Formats: sequence, structure tokens, C-alpha cells
Amino acid sequence: MSRNLRRPGHCNPSANPTFEEVLARRGFIKAGLGLATLAALPGCATQGTRPQLSFIPIAPSNQDLLRVPAEYEAKVLYRWGDPIGAAAGMPAFRKDASNSAADQALQAGMHHDGMNYFPLDGSRRGLLAMNHEYLDEGLLFPDGTKTWSAEKVMKAQHAVGASVIEVSLEGSQWEVVRPSKYARRITARTPIRISGPAAGHPLMRTANDPGGTIVFGTFAGCAHGWTPWGTYLTCEENWHVYFVHSGQISAEHQRYRITAKGFNTRWYEHDERFDAGRHPNEPHRFGWVVEIDPFDPDSLPVKRTALGRIKHEGAACSVGADRRLAFYMGDDEAFEYIYKFVTDEPFDPANREKNRDLLDNGKLYVARFNEDGSGDWLLLAGPDLGEVRVKTRQAADAAGATKMDRPEWIVPHPVTREVYASLTNNTARKAPGPGNPRSPNPFGHILRWREEGGDVAATRFHWDVFALAGPEGKNGIKGDAFACPDGLWIDSMGTLWVETDISPTALNRGEFAPLGNNQALAVDPATGVFRRFLTGPRGCEITGFHVTPDNRTAFVNIQHPGETPGDRSNPDNPRAQSNWPDYDPDGRPRSATVVIRRKDGGIIGT
Ligand code: FEO
Ligand code: CA
Ligand code: CA
Repeated sequence: MSRNLRRPGHCNPSANPTFEEVLARRGFIKAGLGLATLAALPGCATQGTRPQLSFIPIAPSNQDLLRVPAEYEAKVLYRWGDPIGAAAGMPAFRKDASNSAADQALQAGMHHDGMNYFPLDGSRRGLLAMNHEYLDEGLLFPDGTKTWSAEKVMKAQHAVGASVIEVSLEGSQWEVVRPSKYARRITARTPIRISGPAAGHPLMRTANDPGGTIVFGTFAGCAHGWTPWGTYLTCEENWHVYFVHSGQISAEHQRYRITAKGFNTRWYEHDERFDAGRHPNEPHRFGWVVEIDPFDPDSLPVKRTALGRIKHEGAACSVGADRRLAFYMGDDEAFEYIYKFVTDEPFDPANREKNRDLLDNGKLYVARFNEDGSGDWLLLAGPDLGEVRVKTRQAADAAGATKMDRPEWIVPHPVTREVYASLTNNTARKAPGPGNPRSPNPFGHILRWREEGGDVAATRFHWDVFALAGPEGKNGIKGDAFACPDGLWIDSMGTLWVETDISPTALNRGEFAPLGNNQALAVDPATGVFRRFLTGPRGCEITGFHVTPDNRTAFVNIQHPGETPGDRSNPDNPRAQSNWPDYDPDGRPRSATVVIRRKDGGIIGT
């Protein structure tokens, strides 16, 4: 997400050190040492397992087009408003946005984000689960946003959440399977079970749910996660923007940036639980990792409170040698933290049912980066574990975690278990520190760490800076320049895919201008050379890059084409710069899933 929603600063009042201080003291910044030097830090050599990346990198683009290398083709697969393929109905998208709330519940939501492919038949047929992160109400409603109604609130609530769709390779072309018994929308109105330490806790109880065990809806799912037993994790990030707060706002709600007037999303006018003043525990029921079983369309999704309540970017799984699992999680706001959850029990590859509640029991840690290149995972515990999980940010403040430059996606290498994390930018940083080498940091960087002994459950790690992003002359990049790394994915051949999210205020302006529209790049971790693979249409961010197990198909999400810093209630603002993907002057720009193949059916990246 790049909307102004998160832009005004941060809300971390603690005196914990920033990651920048350490690197500066190590002399990495002022000495301008190349990334080769940083990459050569002891213990951070990566054993890549993939063949050479050999596609010819493409140039930056300012055009309202999605571009890929000449030997590739990209096809739009699943746009906002396209029917999901549920047997219950196939409402077609109306380009004047006049679809009803009931239609929207059977159509793709807005603003596609994190995404995962789950095989049904290897790499030829599977399920795509994806997040619909947030809304542009100006595009969603034909009559704009001056007035709201119960129907409009319901349509908005149906336009966020997640999709599960069935996709199939027919000849050389991927199609959405319609109808499909798996097709499903999960929205801000779907019943969701609460489990783990905070389930039933007094802080989770509301007038609608006195037991504190069932909540309506998930939204603001940003990056994603997966489990080895084939479930999807949608991770609630900027959930606070849907709340307003009448009366005095508690320090506790302020720590999560809930404000009196909210962020122009007026759900509370017709759904009063979104007034945190009247329903002070309702915000506690958001900010979680939500587990969805894409293979069981009748299953209730589950909010797994053991993984903490933050503004979750994602939850990235690393499988330990003993089959215990670590999940790495960023809290995406300036000066927030990086977390790790480790399951108490190993997963059982032979018994899916046994893994069903594995995410309910485990240890939650927050990261402290030290200036000598080491780091510590600090345990978040206490006598009332439910309260510790609801107030995760406060627990991390008290533990002495390192304030980071907006932690976005994190991805562990499936073979080496080295972990890569995007720190997208932080213009408010006043001094460099460990893990955050630049102040201010408008361009972002990619951090890397290695758990001690290669053990995902270790409480100590070693870190270095993998890439310092930015335009030519201002970066530490080998290869093609980029800024504001956000999405990360490592495919089964070991290629790290990096997607960017330069904000609409910065895109194509000033120092960012030479980089053009947002883009995706491929990098072999062993060489650290970045190659530009994709450039998006105007105003979009690139996210959700995911490659099938056979490495012959890539799925990617194009989020918020046409986004501008202007008035979001007016659809003419985004339309003025992008009509992707339909190029209909009377239509609207639409977020969409795109499928990318080599024209000869070959390996993605070659
Ligand atoms: Fe939804 Fe942190 O981006
Ligand atoms: Ca972002
Ligand atoms: Ca993001």
C-alpha cells in the first residue's frame, strides 16, 4: 500500500535505538563501501542453487503499459470486479462501478496484494489465494464518497479481504476456472474464528461477541504467508484506517495510530463497531495473522493470535531441520519492529490434520540488531499471554527492540535459510543505526540475516545489508537501479524477486524520476546483481510475485494503477494517468493479477 493513509509519521514513543546507529559506526555509510564488501561479511555467503539468470533486462518506463522482456508475454488474468467463478453467480463487472454490494461479494476485490499458488495438479492447475488490501472508494462508487449508505459500506466491506480462485493452464494460456467449487471471497463481513492466547481474553470481548472468539471479517491484508500444510496466511496491516474514535483515545489505541477522525473511511456511520470510542475492544480484533484453508471453501478462517498483533506486512515461513517453523514478520510503519514466531511443535508432513492448530502455540520474539553485526531475538512473554499478544507493540517497546525503516516483506531462502527483508524507506530517520544505514532513508534497502547454527529457533543471528537501494549514484546496487523495495519472493530455483513501491507523490519526480514506474527485478543472491524484469503501468505498485513449482509461470499483482496523491474521492484523478488494463476511456483503472510466461514455455528468469 502506498496511499497517504500511513504517511503522517509514526507512533513509536519508546527510546529504543534505531538500526542506523550501528552501521554508521561500522563506517559503512560514510566510507561508501560497496555492497560487495557488505555482502562479504562473515557467515553471509549464499549458496545459490539456480542456473544463471539470462533474460535481457528492460529499461525503466513511464508509459501506461506493463512491460516484460521481449522473450516473455504477460496476460491479464483476474481484475477487480471479475467474477471469482462461484456457482452462486457470475456477476459481470460494470465499468461505471454500478455493481451492487451483492455483486461485489462474488467478484475480485480491489487492490490485489500478496498471493500464493497452491497446486491441485502440479504446475498446470491450482488455487491462487490473494489479498485485496484496501479501497479506492472514488473508483468503487459511481456517486463518489460525499454520502455513505448501508449498501455502500457493505460494498466496500465486500471489496476488501481475500480471494481464492481456481486457475488452469489450457494449452499455453492460463484461465480462471468458472465455475469452481473452490472459488471463494473472504471479506470484512466473513465470520472468522479467534484462536491462540488472546482467544476469549477480556480485551477481545465485544457487545456482538461476548465470548471474544468470533469476529466478522479480515481486511488490510498486505503481504502474505503460507504453511507447509497448504494453508494461506493473510496478514492484517493498515487495519487502523477503518476505525474512528469518539471521545478520549487511550494511549493503547494511539500506539496503533487510531485517530479521532480516521482516514476518510466512514464505515462507522452504518456499522458502529468501527467507532472505537463506542466499541473499544473492536480494534483488538484486527492486526492479526489469519489462516485460510484454500482447499476447504466451507472452512472458517482463523485469526492466530499467537503471532502477535501489529500492522503485519506478512508472515514468511522458514522450515527448520527439526520441522519446527519460524515465521518472520515486519510491522510496516516507520520505526516499528521485525518479529519472529517459532512453533513449539514440529509440523507433520504425513498428517495435515495434526498441523491444524500448530500456529496456536509458540514463542514470539522481536529483533534487536547490534552494531557488531549480531542480533538478538528478544522473547515477548508475561503472566498474561493474551494481553502480551494484544499489546504486542508495547511488549516489544519494553523488550528493547530496534526501530526499523518500515519493515515490508521478508522471505527466507528455502535452502540456505538466509532471510531477506525489505526496509522500504523512512524519511523521518535522523541518525543511522544497526540495520538502517541511511538517514534520512528515502530509497530503502534490503537486509539479510542468518540464524545462528542455521537453526530457525535460534535466539541469535548475524546480519548484513544486501542492497542499498536508490537511483544511479545514490545506491549500492550491482546492476539495475530501483528504489523502495517492498515485495520479495524466492522461487524454487533460488532467484530472489524484488518488487518496488515508490509512493505516488515521489513517482516520476525529482531523484526518483530516472527509475520510472514501479518495477520488479530478479537477483541471484550469490552474485547480488539485479536485473529489471518488469515495469508496471503508471501509478501502480508491483506485488505478489510468485512462481509455480516448475518455474515456468509467474503470477504477479498490479496494485492501484493510476494512483495519484490527489483527491481519492474523484475517479478522474487516477483515470487521468492510467486506464490499465482495459484502456477504456469510460472505464476505470483496475488492479489485476497478471500471468507471465516465456513465449517458448521455458524457465522464468532465463
Ligand atoms: Fe501494504 Fe506495507 O504495504
Ligand atoms: Ca509499500
Ligand atoms: Ca507492501
